[in-house]
Amino acid sequence: MSRNLIPLISPTEIASTVRRLAREIERDYQDRSLVLVGILKGSFIFLADLVREIQLPINNIEFMRLSSYGASLVSSGQAQITMSPPPKTIAGQNIVLIEDIIDTGITTNTALHYLQNLHPASLRLCCLVDKPARRQVPVKCDYLGLTIEELFIVGYGIDFDQQYRQLPNICYLEEQPQDKSNSQ
Ligand code: IMP
Ligand code: MG
Repeated sequence: MSRNLIPLISPTEIASTVRRLAREIERDYQDRSLVLVGILKGSFIFLADLVREIQLPINNIEFMRLSSYGASLVSSGQAQITMSPPPKTIAGQNIVLIEDIIDTGITTNTALHYLQNLHPASLRLCCLVDKPARRQVPVKCDYLGLTIEELFIVGYGIDFDQQYRQLPNICYLEEQPQDKSNSQ
């Protein structure tokens, strides 16, 4: 099936958004240690750019991975953690979870609950893109990049069926895909 990629967010707008988020994080962590936890795979480019913008020591960078189950774009309401950071890297630390998109909220919510149970000193969420129209569970985002309408986006780390992650901008697919798979 051929799909049309329509540009939505330019590299320039992404870069200025990442800079703004870095300034917000710097402001809040001046006097506190900072550990970032990226959700794979979708946040890998966002995280790589964000850490190079943050003008503060970063004590550690960890990763976790989750898979959403269920058919097509209708969420099953569950996410399974398939890779998690060592618990001792979270306990007692000031954690900022880094995510590409909040859609239904299930992935982020699952990740936040998991990390909270590892007893961090504090836990916040930084997300590049929010799609509030599709929310199923409430999520409080402390550092939010951009809010978009109900579109399926790709690029800047974000995939459809593992494709398009390398695009330097964020596009939307003109046709809604039938299956977003288990990829994160
Ligand atoms: P949620 O659990 O429904 O909030 O979905 C979060 C995950 O679904 C994200 O981390 C993405 O991997 C994926 N996702 C949600 N919306 C999109 C999209 O528009 N394009 C690509 N992946 C998406
Ligand atoms: Mg994905």
